[in-house]
Amino acid sequence: MRLERLEVEFQGPVARVWLNRPDVRNAFDGLMVTELRKVLFDLRTVDAVRVVVLGGRGPAFCAGADLEWMQAMAGFTREENLREAQALADLFFTVYESPKPIVARVHGAALGGGCGLVAASDIPVAALGTHFGFTEVRLGIVPALISPYVIGKIGESAARELFLTGERFEAVRAVEVGLIRAAVPEEDLDAVVDRRVAELLKAGPRAVSEAKALIREVGWRRVEDVQRYTVERIAELRISTEGQEGMRAFLEKRKPYWEP
Ligand code: COA
Repeated sequence: MRLERLEVEFQGPVARVWLNRPDVRNAFDGLMVTELRKVLFDLRTVDAVRVVVLGGRGPAFCAGADLEWMQAMAGFTREENLREAQALADLFFTVYESPKPIVARVHGAALGGGCGLVAASDIPVAALGTHFGFTEVRLGIVPALISPYVIGKIGESAARELFLTGERFEAVRAVEVGLIRAAVPEEDLDAVVDRRVAELLKAGPRAVSEAKALIREVGWRRVEDVQRYTVERIAELRISTEGQEGMRAFLEKRKPYWEP
């Protein structure tokens, strides 16, 4: 597939997906949404790829939805508007439920939908000085599609403050509210991302995707409602090929076959 809005690099078990529209700070339009969804979807079935790193080319990670594209939607029918919004919703969901863990490498700015990509990813790490913000209300709209992922990460209290003011905030604050996992000097960003990747590569590939599914299934539900599910997951996974290999490797004081 020829990509106009993205660049994809493969390096052993890691796929690096770069938003590549630096002139508009990687703001996403319909084509970028389509390309990113397709790339992430296709990577699901590539066994050799075990971790995805999502970053942005140029001075910023992502300035959110392309405001010219959104403005032009006034000329679309309601059905067309719903279709475009659904495609974007599908993109955030594809990031969120990707069976390959996604590390977001964030620098410069992550605003609006850019913050949505951060929230939907698994381990977002940002450079100090990165600007974050749910700026939608300042543009007369709302952070609708990204809200489930953001509220899931930062909770209602911080969401009320940040969604309602639309104020910008820096990486240290983003760590405090739980939007990202770490804020590091920009010159250390790649090394920190690589360390996160190295930790992920120690985990069994199937176990990682099962752990993601577990969080999705169990989060915010009553213990009584999820207990049957959790019992079934561990009963199945401890006798799986990976589970048996992981435990045997530990007991035999060696690395499991998936560890580099
Ligand atoms: N949609 C469309 N174009 C955008 C954009 C967006 N979301 N964000 C930035 N751009 C464009 C600018 O219009 C500008 O275009 P120009 O060169 O034709 O004037 C270009 O990208 C560079 O932007 P600029 O503001 O000059 O760059 P910067 O590096 O000083 O600042 C940002 C980068 C991301 C902090 C700033 O552009 C910004 O605040 N963008 C708005 C983001 C936003 O509110 N997104 C929410 C969408 S829901």
